[in-house]
Amino acid sequence: MTNPASSAAPAPTLEDALAALDALPAPQGLPSWTPASEVPLDQVSSESLRSCGLEYRTVDARDEVAFEHYLQAVNRGFLEERAEHLVGSRSTLLQLDGRLVGVYDPDAPRSEAPVATIATWGTGLVLDPGCIAPMWAISEVTVSSTHRRRGIARAMIEGELRSAAGTGYPIAGLTVSEATIYGRYGFGPSVGARRFTIENRRAGWVGPRPVEEGRGRIDPIEREDAMRALAALHAESVAERPGEITGWPGLWRDAAGLHPGSEEKSHRAVRYTDADGRVRGVVVFSIKDPEGTAVLRIHHLLAATADAYAALWHFSLTHDLISSVTATLRSADEPVRWMIEDQRALTSTEHDHHWVRILDVAAVLAARRYRAAGSVLFEVTDPLDLTGGRYLLTVDEAGTGSVQQLTADAPADATTVRLGVSELSALLHGGARWGTLAAAGRISADGDSTAWLDVAFAPAAPLQLSVGY
Ligand SMILES: CC(C)(COP(=O)(O)OP(=O)(O)OC[C@H]1O[C@@H](n2cnc3c(N)ncnc32)[C@H](O)[C@@H]1OP(=O)(O)O)[C@@H](O)C(=O)NCCC(=O)NCCS
Repeated sequence: MTNPASSAAPAPTLEDALAALDALPAPQGLPSWTPASEVPLDQVSSESLRSCGLEYRTVDARDEVAFEHYLQAVNRGFLEERAEHLVGSRSTLLQLDGRLVGVYDPDAPRSEAPVATIATWGTGLVLDPGCIAPMWAISEVTVSSTHRRRGIARAMIEGELRSAAGTGYPIAGLTVSEATIYGRYGFGPSVGARRFTIENRRAGWVGPRPVEEGRGRIDPIEREDAMRALAALHAESVAERPGEITGWPGLWRDAAGLHPGSEEKSHRAVRYTDADGRVRGVVVFSIKDPEGTAVLRIHHLLAATADAYAALWHFSLTHDLISSVTATLRSADEPVRWMIEDQRALTSTEHDHHWVRILDVAAVLAARRYRAAGSVLFEVTDPLDLTGGRYLLTVDEAGTGSVQQLTADAPADATTVRLGVSELSALLHGGARWGTLAAAGRISADGDSTAWLDVAFAPAAPLQLSVGY
């Protein structure tokens, strides 16, 4: 007789659960891209670092020792706060087909450890509903404090941008630690984020109550199930959500609080299921009680339907023994503000979040849709000479844009807007207004063209990037 305990299949490991996410259907309209692991290092940066006595090389993530040195350098760069996060996990990096780059100082006592790091991989960026562009994602930019302000970060970042542009990526992106580092390379803050604090006892709920009205139910779930549900809901809905990235499995592991060795063990999760039994939303949260005033912190709330959104916010705001609810990386225009009776119970702070850098003006402008017909000539300057030039954007009545790079004279009647690639990157999604940047002296454009551009580039839905990387 077989012992049922010994014949039972072993419980799946977290790595297995993560790998299983790969089997989920890909987001609709996902473009293809060359994996970063196949892209050669930039020779210009390699030469400039070599002339300073430094070596610029890729780190093989399968080499445990080299990977460990790389991770330690990243952790030191971020003052030990980063732990083994996101790309910091070897399996995640290998799944992403990304590349790690280190700068090494052969004269240093520990020359096997990099003095600078950068990680990159490809993902999709949603420019407009149904319009996804391949994006060169950048993370883990660090330079050891012993080697700062010698131009190492500049060499690495410029090297990544040249590599990506040379491989056909039309845009690069990163979420930043400081807002003053990346503008000089042509990045612009394209999608901002809000942090909400809601005093829930004061708020008063006036929104829909789908659970009480019998249209669905709320249930607690394990963090592994939350990870899978978040990944599935995201894959299913992301193409329609401008500002988001299509992402990778490690994002959902982190969002569900499953990262090893983190305080995130306190994460709890609840799902919303509709009347047909389909999971339509998940909220991952934790509860902290610092001084007798318990705070429910929402780490991630993802809803595929209006009912799921209302039910999950209602659950969070009416949780017992809680005095306030916080949520990060929310969009500027959220229905929850209109679901509470006292809007003054909600305070929000805004900050820059996603910075993008256009690498191919013609490709990204042709990749999104527009809200008004018309045409404009952009004269774009680029500090790295990757995509500067004159581009005629013509939008037809259906909102489709076509772009012509001009080498000869522009049409006599073309209205010209002059701007840097950093400003165009900031304006691409419609998160910033053209009239505002003109008033700030950041672009040169007349009132008629900014009025049209503000309508044409307006986002089809509130912009949000719900993750950091
Ligand atoms: C930010 C960091 C990567 C810069 O590295 P670095 O090698 O010293 O930078 P460089 O010498 O190449 O400087 C390039 C330019 O950036 C500027 N710069 C560097 N660090 C900056 C900072 N923290 N804020 C604003 N500007 C900065 C330099 O003044 C220089 O300007 P210029 O070339 O226009 O004159 C490094 O200080 C670091 O590792 N910081 C901690 C980790 C971190 O915050 N990483 C960024 C993650 S988004």
